[in-house]
Amino acid sequence: MWLRPQPQGQPQSWHDWFEDWRLWFDQVKTNLWFGRGGLNVKRYYIWKDAQAAVHSDVWKDPRGYYFLNIMTVLPECQGRGIGRRLVTAVTDQADVEGMPCYLEASKDVPNIPIYERFGFEFVKKLDCDHDGEKCTLYCMVREPRSTQKDNSETNAA
Ligand SMILES: CC(C)(COP(=O)(O)OP(=O)(O)OC[C@H]1O[C@@H](n2cnc3c(N)ncnc32)[C@H](O)[C@@H]1OP(=O)(O)O)[C@@H](O)C(=O)NCCC(=O)NCCS
Repeated sequence: MWLRPQPQGQPQSWHDWFEDWRLWFDQVKTNLWFGRGGLNVKRYYIWKDAQAAVHSDVWKDPRGYYFLNIMTVLPECQGRGIGRRLVTAVTDQADVEGMPCYLEASKDVPNIPIYERFGFEFVKKLDCDHDGEKCTLYCMVREPRSTQKDNSETNAA
């Protein structure tokens, strides 16, 4: 799931506001139907606080970033180019617009090398700490291709 860029200092559009609440209600519906699945609300807020700190440090572009919020391919379907298609559907558009993209990988290996194939570069770790239990996410930024210093990205699409 990609999120659209949110320019700094601009209020959220009605469309994005509506989508945020739709996502919230869908999540509540899922939790009621399937159970919370171990969701720990305190940890959610620890993550959101750590994320806000990293974004203020890493998000330099005032126009905002296309944010690859969640991406999962069924295990039996991985390695067949589906992830590439889900990513390039937006990164191609970002290149046309000259916009940067951003993501938080849940694992360093193999996810960082996979996202590097799409032109993302690791920029910072996002550490969450809940009473000593730690979790690390790996923040990556992709500059638009026209302004990329390193044009070594392999595009097999
Ligand atoms: C990460 C994920 C979404 C990638 O989707 P996918 O459909 O398997 O990816 P693709 O088949 O399109 O491969 C993407 C690129 O990564 C490369 N790649 C795949 N596995 C790799 C690995 N283990 N190491 C390095 N590169 C790898 C592929 O060669 C391909 O590059 P290319 O197109 O330039 O040849 C998928 O593996 C996944 O759902 N993983 C589990 C859930 C997860 O970790 N989600 C992300 C949370 S941050």
